[in-house]
Amino acid sequence: MNRSQLSEISQPIKSELQRFEELFKQSIKSKVGLVDLIAKYIIRQKGKKVRPLLVLLSAKICGGITERSYRGAVLVELLHTATLVHDDVVDNANKRRGFWSVNNVFKNKVAVLMGDYLLSRGLLTAIEGKDYDFLEVITSTVKKMSEGELLQIQKTRKLDIDEETYFKIISDKTASLIETCCTIGALSATDDKNMVNAMKEFGHCIGMSFQIRDDILDYDGKFSLTGKPVGGDIKEKKITLPLIYSLNKVTHSEASHVKKIIKNGKKKENIAEVIEFVKANDGIDYALTTAQTYSDKAKTSIKQVPDSPSKIALEALIDYVIDRKN
Ligand code: IPE
Ligand code: MG
Ligand code: MG
Repeated sequence: MNRSQLSEISQPIKSELQRFEELFKQSIKSKVGLVDLIAKYIIRQKGKKVRPLLVLLSAKICGGITERSYRGAVLVELLHTATLVHDDVVDNANKRRGFWSVNNVFKNKVAVLMGDYLLSRGLLTAIEGKDYDFLEVITSTVKKMSEGELLQIQKTRKLDIDEETYFKIISDKTASLIETCCTIGALSATDDKNMVNAMKEFGHCIGMSFQIRDDILDYDGKFSLTGKPVGGDIKEKKITLPLIYSLNKVTHSEASHVKKIIKNGKKKENIAEVIEFVKANDGIDYALTTAQTYSDKAKTSIKQVPDSPSKIALEALIDYVIDRKN
């Protein structure tokens, strides 16, 4: 699957997504020239818009898209964009979506402040709309996302991480926001608690498989499609599921050898050796199987929702998340 299939999935809400784009652009306008310049730079980069898509589709299958659904979609995309801008500072990344990252073009201090600006614009969107239920879920998500990233840094320093910790990290840093997208979408369309909970569970599972796929893309992705260099995680000494599995599989001394390579640096041949090691030990296949388990759970959780074109789109989105190349 690829971007064109993502646009196929978007079909049932094509015009709604266009409206979202317009509102999103409006929401980051600023009278400060530098802020506006960076905002325009970010908009030109065109992310996949998976999160607003999830908000709007979730709303649609729970009863229908409302004004609140649009505010929810803008809120989550603002927050997502803020975390990406911050993430590239944290990870020292120079590319994002195939473009130079904000920190690379405008320097770290500007990127940190711009991230804060985007986050606060998001929260303001909810306050202006009096969407206090959104604020409640989103602020605990922001807390989880930063805690997840910090736990990752804590683990990165020691190069020791087990599966349980890995799942905790990705649940907090990625799945929590995707879960929130589906929750907010549902909340904007229905009062039915069972429906909201089903969408929340759906979002959690799709979020877990989204991040596992993202971590696999660090090993088998193509720069021309992802817009991010392969092996970026290894360079940052980030141990993700394919590597955790492979390290656990081999002898203690082989594992120490691989860890030493990772510690020793960012040289091209070091990164290539780690990638080869993971491939040779079926780390990618294992991670794919794990992602599939979450996808299956996601499918189960929306079984109870009535059939509709939007439900079919959400089911296709589950497959897209695992098969995606970007
Ligand atoms: C990237 O998210 C960060 C993760 C949580 C893996 P996306 O892959 O949705 O990024 P864009 O918005 O499409 O660039
Ligand atoms: Mg990161
Ligand atoms: Mg990644």
